[in-house]
Amino acid sequence: MLSIGALPGSRLEGVCRVPGDKSISHRAALLGALAEGTTVIENFLFGADCLSTLRCLKALNVVIERDDALIRITGKGSCGLKEPVEVLDAGNSGTTMRLLLGILAGQDYFAVITGDESLTKRPMGRVVKPLMQMGAQIWGRESGVKAPLAVKGSSRLSPLIYQLPVPSAQVKSALLLAGLFAEGTTTIIQPTPCRDHTELMLQTFGASVKVDSNFSVSISGGDLLRGQEVKVPGDISAAAFLIVAATLLPGSDILIEDVGINPTRTGILDALREMEADISLLNERNWGGEPVADLRVRSASLRGIEIGGGLIPRLIDEIPVLAVAATAAQGVTVVRDAAELRVKETDRIKAIVCELQKLGAELNALPDGLEVRGGKPLRGAAVSSWDDHRLAMSLVVAGLTAGNSVTVVENTECIDVSFPGYADLLSSLGARVDQPAPGQCQ
Ligand code: S3P
Repeated sequence: MLSIGALPGSRLEGVCRVPGDKSISHRAALLGALAEGTTVIENFLFGADCLSTLRCLKALNVVIERDDALIRITGKGSCGLKEPVEVLDAGNSGTTMRLLLGILAGQDYFAVITGDESLTKRPMGRVVKPLMQMGAQIWGRESGVKAPLAVKGSSRLSPLIYQLPVPSAQVKSALLLAGLFAEGTTTIIQPTPCRDHTELMLQTFGASVKVDSNFSVSISGGDLLRGQEVKVPGDISAAAFLIVAATLLPGSDILIEDVGINPTRTGILDALREMEADISLLNERNWGGEPVADLRVRSASLRGIEIGGGLIPRLIDEIPVLAVAATAAQGVTVVRDAAELRVKETDRIKAIVCELQKLGAELNALPDGLEVRGGKPLRGAAVSSWDDHRLAMSLVVAGLTAGNSVTVVENTECIDVSFPGYADLLSSLGARVDQPAPGQCQ
């Protein structure tokens, strides 16, 4: 078991980049596999979750080569994936499982997909039910809503008009991918807009995707995808940890280059700015349909805010680190409408409340969010990641701000899921983090 020790008293300074966007990396690999021709992906995230997607694609007979920082996928075309002999393993990755289920629903063969302990507890009914309405046959634990899941798909699915019961980009994406194999137009209506990387990338690969408003997306079945060169922007969800750390550590001034600022993902910038964080966007540009900028962040004193509604899907993954920011803000911060946090890699409401309380923070859980009474200095303690990458990284940030004793975050190998090299990057910016050398006893 690895752990990271975070010590107070540092400030962050310098220029850096964060790893490639996790959501975009998954999608580039999946669309590359379904396209005709070669797809080359630059700045792909070689974190455990995206490696799970590559492993599953290889089991479906896709040829994927790695050449330093690039990956090259020889596309199989829409009917070229092969029945997998082995059980597909999505590891810890909900995106891998849900998006692949959309693709498997459109294949005329049988496949079984499973994942780790956390993933087999997560709700899959939200994708299984509409995919079955489209004509796929799916079996699984607990009446077909938990992995392992067995799929017998069909390359002639029925199109669907579907109102998403939860604002989930994974469900929307699974149905759009299945829509490629439907005989007609599939339309997904979202309760509130959530990340739109699948629609943008499908358009880049040549599919006719129509976005009628921010809420409704349609795809026509049967379109051919063509291989592309994709340059993956830095992941704003990874940058969020550095943004909050630089905001909270007095005297900090950092520049994070090449960060994706797709408006469906920048809720964290909106919330932190409302809290009076000092964040500027420089050098704004576009990489293949995805907006990108360099982010300059200087330390600032924060104030508490109330958030909910349509902002939540735009910062859902950043709420644990936002809670850390809220512990340092003057006044109360309230997060509502975020019950989806309870079905992430872990119950993130329960986990962040429990662990930040160990550091002396004053906060409590709400059924759909949390309430943080900020301004009380944190003190160092031993805390657990709950084997959740975003919890682990948030707690390291909390530890950097805590009293004058060390915070030990236990079980930090999960950080590799989305941010390989996290502790080294923080150190290179001046943060006082300790990690044992590989093989060293703890
Ligand atoms: C993701 C969508 C979100 C997010 C997850 C990645 C995606 O999940 O929390 O980390 O890549 O589509 P939901 O679709 O469950 O909201």
